[in-house]
Amino acid sequence: MAHAESHVTIHMVASLDGFIARKDGSVDWLETSDKFAGGETMDAGSVEAFLETIDCYVMGSRTYETALGFEAKGLGWSYGDKPTIVLTRRELPRTRDTVEFYSGDLAQFVNGRLRPAFRSIWFVGGGVVSSECLRLGLADEVRYAILPILIGDGIPFFERLDRDIALHLAEVKAYDSGMVELRYLTAVADPAPGT
Ligand SMILES: NC(=O)c1ccc[n+]([C@@H]2O[C@H](COP(=O)([O-])OP(=O)(O)OC[C@H]3O[C@@H](n4cnc5c(N)ncnc54)[C@H](OP(=O)(O)O)[C@@H]3O)[C@@H](O)[C@H]2O)c1
Repeated sequence: MAHAESHVTIHMVASLDGFIARKDGSVDWLETSDKFAGGETMDAGSVEAFLETIDCYVMGSRTYETALGFEAKGLGWSYGDKPTIVLTRRELPRTRDTVEFYSGDLAQFVNGRLRPAFRSIWFVGGGVVSSECLRLGLADEVRYAILPILIGDGIPFFERLDRDIALHLAEVKAYDSGMVELRYLTAVADPAPGT
């Protein structure tokens, strides 16, 4: 049975033209230098407190490989000590105890294993895994952070979908860095007021 309040979020940061990485996988463009007067300030304390509310992460193997690359360059591991499930059909290096590999039926895994065990489940990319999650109707919300940059080409936020997916806009936040964060709910029928 699903955790009474389990919640599946897809979260990624994208360029204004909808890419999460360049074609070669690089994400150097994530460092932008815009200033938006009147935008909210993202302070380290509140980011840390927010990250504490996430109970587990799910990612595709290519995203994991990028994360391993960052770690190898001394840039740290972004997922703290939270359980991190990597979807892959390959044998990949396991650099920490919190990492677990999974291959197979994603719907069964999310509904049968993750939802009963975790309240806040975050899918953190990439495009292939996000699409699979949406196609299977597994996500409750999509958080789309748009950076003030166009990169022209790259890996799209969502790989091809097989149908339209209507969303309910639940929140919009603009930051002083020029980043805009949009939060959408996938359940569009009769959204509760204020959600
Ligand atoms: N801007 C951002 O916020 C952001 C966030 C995340 C990632 N990224 C970037 O996006 C790029 C990666 O995205 P991507 O779309 O190319 O790849 P991805 O979604 O990270 O990984 C796709 C891979 O996941 C595995 N997979 C997917 N579903 C599976 C399932 N049900 N069972 C088993 N394995 C499954 C397959 O790997 P195998 O081939 O190993 O079987 C598949 O090739 C990286 O460059 C990364 O840096 C950016």
